[in-house]
Amino acid sequence: MKKIDTFEAKEKIVNISTLSNTTRISQDPVQKQLTYVWKNICTHSGFVLDIASGMGLLVNKLFTSTKFDIIASDISYFILRDSYNNLSAAKNARLTKMAFDATASPFRNGSVDMITNYSGLQNIPAVKSTLKEIYRICNDTFYCITSFSPNDDETNRIKKETYNLSDELIMASEKNSCMKFIREAGFRVECDNSESIFTPKAPRSAFIPNFGFDALPIADSVFENCTLIAKKINI
Ligand SMILES: C[S@@+](CC[C@H](N)C(=O)[O-])C[C@H]1O[C@@H](n2cnc3c(N)ncnc32)[C@H](O)[C@@H]1O
Repeated sequence: MKKIDTFEAKEKIVNISTLSNTTRISQDPVQKQLTYVWKNICTHSGFVLDIASGMGLLVNKLFTSTKFDIIASDISYFILRDSYNNLSAAKNARLTKMAFDATASPFRNGSVDMITNYSGLQNIPAVKSTLKEIYRICNDTFYCITSFSPNDDETNRIKKETYNLSDELIMASEKNSCMKFIREAGFRVECDNSESIFTPKAPRSAFIPNFGFDALPIADSVFENCTLIAKKINI
C-alpha cells in the first residue's frame, strides 16, 4: 500500500515563524469557538436547535450546560444514527435527533429561540435558502461558527471552482459575501471571537494518482475563524 505523503504539509508547518506578528496561532482554534458559543448560551433554558450537527463536536460541547435540551439535526439520517451513542443516560434524555434538510425544516415560524451551527454553512450548497429558512424559524439568535478565506484567495478559489462547488458556497467562504447573505435573510449580524489561523496546504493525494491536491487549501493560507452572531430584527 502506498504511504500517504504528508511531507509537504510538515515542511510548511516549520515555516509558521515567517508569519506576521498579527497572525496568532491558537493551540485549539475549534475548541475556542465552541467554548465561546457555549459561554454565550449556557444559561439559556428550553432547547437549542443545532443545524447540520454531523458527528456532534458542537453538540457535545453544548452538553456541558445542563440548562437546556438539545436537538441535533442533519440531512444525513445515518450520521445521526451512528453518532451520540455513548452519551450518559442523563445527556441522552436531553437529546433529540432529527433528520431534515436545513433548507426545509419542520419547525413553525419563529418557534426556535436559539439556533447553533458549527462548520455547516461551508457544507450546504444552498447557503442562501438555508439562511432564509433559519431566519424563518428563529425567534432570537443564530450562532454560526465558521471560517473565511482571505478576500484575495485566488488560488483556493480556482480550485473550489474546479470542484463544481456552488457559487453561493464559494461566496460564503468570503467574509463580506457571507455577512451580506445573512443580512439579506433578515438578520442583524456581527462577527465576534475572530482569530487568524495558519493552515498549511493539504498534502498531495495518494489515493488518486496524478490528481495532485484533493483537499483545500492547496496553498498555505491564513483563514479567519470566528463566530457570527445573527439576531432576528423584528423581536
Ligand atoms: C462539517 S459537518 C458539521 C460538523 C458538526 N456541526 C459538528 O459540530 O461536528 C457538515 C454536516 O453538514 C451536513 N449537511 C450537508 N448538507 C446539509 C443540509 N442541506 N441540511 C442539513 N445538514 C446538511 C452534512 O451531512 C454534515 O454532517
